[in-house]
Amino acid sequence: MNRKNLIALLVMMILPALGVNSAMAADAPKKPKISNGLALTPPMGWSSWNNFAEHINEQLMIETIDAFVSSGMRDAGYTYVNLDDGWQRYKGARNKYPLEFDPVKFPRGIKYLSDYAHSKGLKLGIYSGPGQTTCAGYTGSEGHEKQDAAMFASWGIEHLKYDSCCSHKDAPVPVLKTIFGDMSKALMSQKRGIVLHACHCGWGNIWEWAADLGINHWRIGQDLSDDFDYPGNREGYYFDILDMLDRGVGLEQYAGPGHWNDYDMMVVGLAGKRSKDLVGAGASNVEYRTHFSLWAMMDSPLLTGTDVRSMDSYTKETLTNKEVIALNQDALGRPATRISSVNGLEIFAKELSDGSWAVALLNRGSATADMTVSLRKDLHLPWSKYSIRDLWQHADLGTYDIPYTAEVISHETKVIRVYEVKDAK
Ligand code: GAL
Repeated sequence: MNRKNLIALLVMMILPALGVNSAMAADAPKKPKISNGLALTPPMGWSSWNNFAEHINEQLMIETIDAFVSSGMRDAGYTYVNLDDGWQRYKGARNKYPLEFDPVKFPRGIKYLSDYAHSKGLKLGIYSGPGQTTCAGYTGSEGHEKQDAAMFASWGIEHLKYDSCCSHKDAPVPVLKTIFGDMSKALMSQKRGIVLHACHCGWGNIWEWAADLGINHWRIGQDLSDDFDYPGNREGYYFDILDMLDRGVGLEQYAGPGHWNDYDMMVVGLAGKRSKDLVGAGASNVEYRTHFSLWAMMDSPLLTGTDVRSMDSYTKETLTNKEVIALNQDALGRPATRISSVNGLEIFAKELSDGSWAVALLNRGSATADMTVSLRKDLHLPWSKYSIRDLWQHADLGTYDIPYTAEVISHETKVIRVYEVKDAK
């Protein structure tokens, strides 16, 4: 082993032991064994659950599609408008009831909605699960995977959230692979490409095997509550924003183009305007912006639960920040790693396809702090000069040859993009 390799090996062994990931040590993700060729960047869109739970209908969906266009969400890259649980006609076990849409909520059917979405340059998603019933008690897809996949395809559906409701917690992985693999195969045999989201609370270390079944994203934990930093788990179940972030640390290696760790639907801007099925005390604007910045940095799908028909201007500005979205949608598909964590001050770094890097400075503490990032020491980049752009201020901050220091207020995340500056020859 030469000296360079020996040093690299030591860095890889010592840094994780100190609780620090080396940004430079990240290996390219493995290619999945099977792929539907979809979701080469994390899916972006909206899901009905956080705000509306089961109270969904045709009018809401049409208005949401229209609002995607008028608010600039579509132009910022949000594509999927997803029905969550509650579109189905019957509550009860699938071996007793068929799976049909509720004709009262959706008088013109689901195909009408997907045609409408397509006419606006958007896509429609739907929800089911591998059980006899879904989490809200509607008929599930168990034993009818092929039939349901064909029905969804005939309706023009392009995204399926397939939800186990955190069942099979201790099931052996081969059983889980069959449950989710059956639907994946059924979807892949349709002519229409349908993105598959396996919603399984992160159990059975789903990140280790889901990509090889052709699954495009998988939840890494239980549901996200509308909280920034709630002590413990609400109701012994929900994760707050910081819990979910922590849950993903170390899982970055499993994500890549076509297969993503899913940090759950965003709660940005909900602030109490959520459905009664979601819990939480709400967060501040600064905290929601931190939430959005980090979901983008981690390459989570960006599926918002906010009511896009009535969001305030701060929420809209947060969700449609194209410079932050560009980090999430970068073609390299390499999620950020947490490269340092000291007393609640955390630095995340993400490599981008043009050779630049994104750096997020998160202050989890209760007081304003100065945070410093050294490209040489923290990112192991040999650049002698670099320029910095602040992606929330939308401003170039200048050229640096020393470590960069920023003042970060409590619960804020500063997001910068750094580019090497080469001296003219
Ligand atoms: C939960 C799931 C939520 C939502 C709900 C619908 O299990 O985690 O995101 O889909 O079911 O009943």
